[in-house]
Amino acid sequence: VEKLKIAIDGPASAGKSTVAKILAKKLNYIYCDTGAMYRTLTYMALKENAISDENHLVKLLDQAKITFEQRVDGQHVFLNNQDVTEVIRQTDVTNNVSAVSAFPKVREELVKRQQEIAKEGAIVMDGRDIGTAVLPLAEVKFFLVASVEERAMRRYKENLSKNIETNFETLKQEIERRDYLDTTRKVSPLTQAKDAKLIDTTGLNIQEVVVKMLEYIQSLS
Ligand code: C5P
Repeated sequence: VEKLKIAIDGPASAGKSTVAKILAKKLNYIYCDTGAMYRTLTYMALKENAISDENHLVKLLDQAKITFEQRVDGQHVFLNNQDVTEVIRQTDVTNNVSAVSAFPKVREELVKRQQEIAKEGAIVMDGRDIGTAVLPLAEVKFFLVASVEERAMRRYKENLSKNIETNFETLKQEIERRDYLDTTRKVSPLTQAKDAKLIDTTGLNIQEVVVKMLEYIQSLS
């Protein structure tokens, strides 16, 4: 079987990681969550009050081995030997990650690591610049979008199910702000690659999105 590189990009909370995990499992591919890498650095930087210091961020990255491990309860993210899976989803990390990820030297280093992880193929990688910058030659590219209302509602329900109290309007504003920062930054901003397949997931459930993706992959061969 072919060892494809599958790139999935799109705005915040469009369901990229959910479908990427399912797709990777179905194809027996690796899944790489590049957002988790930017989040892990942001988590480190917040502890040292260093989120606006590009050179300090690079130093932090030098000391940071970021790895993924497949467990029965899903994929875990490790910073050196610390399990950071949960802490990198906290609100302060989410609300500062776009600033950290906009620094050119941060992107240069993390893109290099991501390309190394993907080099053998048989990978599903999700993020903001996978189809445009990390894996411009990926055989399969998707760009997932959904209305901001729907994306905020999905997050809201997810939080409810985890007993995390949130405000729908706040969530919506945070998503819009992050999308704005990610699409307007100078280095590899969030944008649809020319050869990416656009999927609007508004009104679709997870299975419906996965079916569309598998059909598209089939259609390419
Ligand atoms: O995918 P996730 O929402 O976890 O990504 C968190 C943030 O990391 C994004 O809002 C963006 O600022 C940054 N990111 C990026 N490039 C990627 C993946 C994530 O700049 N490939």
